Amino acid sequence: MARNILILGGSTEAYALARELADRPDIRVISSLAGRTGTPRLPAGDVRIGGFGGADGLAAYLRDNHIDAVVDCTHPFAARMGWNAAQGCATMDVPLLRLERPAWVRQRGDLWDEVADWTEAAPLVGTRSKRVLMTVGRQELEPFAGLDHVWFLIRSVEMPDPMPPFTQAEILLARGPFAYEEERELLITRGIDTIVCKNSGGPTDAKLAAARALGIRVVIKTRPCRPDTPKAADVAEALCWLTPICA
Ligand SMILES: NC(=O)c1ccc[n+]([C@@H]2O[C@H](COP(=O)([O-])OP(=O)(O)OC[C@H]3O[C@@H](n4cnc5c(N)ncnc54)[C@H](OP(=O)(O)O)[C@@H]3O)[C@@H](O)[C@H]2O)c1
Repeated sequence: MARNILILGGSTEAYALARELADRPDIRVISSLAGRTGTPRLPAGDVRIGGFGGADGLAAYLRDNHIDAVVDCTHPFAARMGWNAAQGCATMDVPLLRLERPAWVRQRGDLWDEVADWTEAAPLVGTRSKRVLMTVGRQELEPFAGLDHVWFLIRSVEMPDPMPPFTQAEILLARGPFAYEEERELLITRGIDTIVCKNSGGPTDAKLAAARALGIRVVIKTRPCRPDTPKAADVAEALCWLTPICA
């Protein structure tokens, strides 16, 4: 009988894993999306959209849908879902794997300020920056809106809604990944002196490489704490973890 595998999605790795599993006769793959974007790109296989209703709601979903294993592929900064997954899976005794791309690591030449939250970042930006590229996502801009003397280039997949009351800001709607040359040109032509971003990690760190080459400061948010679960760094490792479950 086919095993039911639930992927908690929202990351590049989640799409890649769903693609790998969708055609296997021994697996029924269901990807779960939070439903934050209006027109999400749909993964291969079955898809459900929207919150579960906390850890208890997830536990009920696992029971009702006879889920055999869960792979938490949510974005590195989507920590609440990670904690809910740990609790919901423990309640139903369902195996849980965390698939998470490695974080970016500071390299020689990087001018990084690592911060744990944006309230720590805003004063740093306010005192040292004039022209800032923001790539923090459209829902985390508020702590920077009071910095009237700073100009922000806010890069986002969708329009911030509502838009916080920035005095000087321009929106750049764009979806990555971005190439090194593209990032370098953007930083130069827009006169950027600081990038504010999250340590999302992954194979491409083009904006960080360009910042390093140009001597541009980066205020980077470190990853939140996650539950202590089995981990995979890439899709191949996740497939290995699933092998005995699907045997
Ligand atoms: N945070 C980021 O920087 C970021 C960046 C890119 C993509 N994303 C993606 O956007 C989604 C939301 O991010 P977030 O930071 O708001 O997450 P979060 O704080 O960890 O989760 C908030 C709530 O959203 C629901 N949720 C999150 N991921 C879900 C999923 N895959 N399927 C069903 N429900 C989900 C859950 O609601 P219930 O409690 O009702 O179950 C969860 O309690 C995540 O799936 C994440 O992968 C996040």
